[in-house]
Amino acid sequence: MNVLTTTGTGDIVPSTQQELIYITFIMFVTKFFIAMFIGDVTSVLNSYTSSLVNYEYGIAELRDYLHNENVSDHQMEKMWHYVRQLWTRNRGKQIPRLVIRLPYVMRYDLMNEVYGQHLRHSYIFSGTEEAFIRQLSLELKHVIFFPGNYIVQHGDSDQSMYFIHRGEVDILTVHPNLTETVHDVLHAGEMFGIAQGLFHGVPHHFSFRAKTTVDIITLQLNKWQDLLKFFPASKHLIYSKAELVYMKH
Ligand SMILES: *[C@@H]1O[C@H](CO)[C@@H](O)[C@H](O)[C@H]1NC(C)=O
Ligand SMILES: *[C@@H]1O[C@H](CO)[C@@H](O)[C@H](O)[C@H]1NC(C)=O
Repeated sequence: MNVLTTTGTGDIVPSTQQELIYITFIMFVTKFFIAMFIGDVTSVLNSYTSSLVNYEYGIAELRDYLHNENVSDHQMEKMWHYVRQLWTRNRGKQIPRLVIRLPYVMRYDLMNEVYGQHLRHSYIFSGTEEAFIRQLSLELKHVIFFPGNYIVQHGDSDQSMYFIHRGEVDILTVHPNLTETVHDVLHAGEMFGIAQGLFHGVPHHFSFRAKTTVDIITLQLNKWQDLLKFFPASKHLIYSKAELVYMKH
């Protein structure tokens, strides 16, 4: 206002003032974005450092535990190898651990959206009640295997089903003379362990080994069998299908 009245060159001054305002504005915006950028970099560094610290803490705990249990050097070496691969791939971002901290309803929706599809599209759970599938999704566990890691070995009896979220899995038999026969390869969206995951004490006939890096979703019978009480129609459907699978063999 002052500038306009005290100088005679009326048409220049307002534009100078506009430029001044404009420059001030740009400087303000730039500073603002620089501040935001620095803030972002710091928070990225912080989260990287804190996840590394958490991860190292977790590893130290695991190592102490294994030491106390007198685990062999060979097993320790295998564990280290796995842990290194896991860090390289995930940078400590372990989906399950983060998901566990979510409030119940959010966790429920997330698990259902990310993993529920495996259940809905599987032979054994397709056609069961939607509420049952949603509850079941909460009990799924996500595990990562690297090429050559065994997911299941012949003779294991673990009461678990396995859904392949990503990657490829070899179905094989290892002969007593240590040669092996690969029978088939399973892909994302396929699953194994129906009988083992529905009944107690059924051993796996074959071994299952990661051919690529594999994301596996497991469902352990102990975690969800109580749920069946509340969904009798789904229970009936599941076990009728299981009988059909048995009759084929
Ligand atoms: C491990 O070995 C130590 C020393 O040989 C022994 O005292 C300890 O009881 C062992 N722990 C287990 C769990 O076997
Ligand atoms: C190893 O054993 C399997 C099954 O018993 C057999 O088919 C295969 O020929 C054997 N291989 C060698 C090299 O002996």
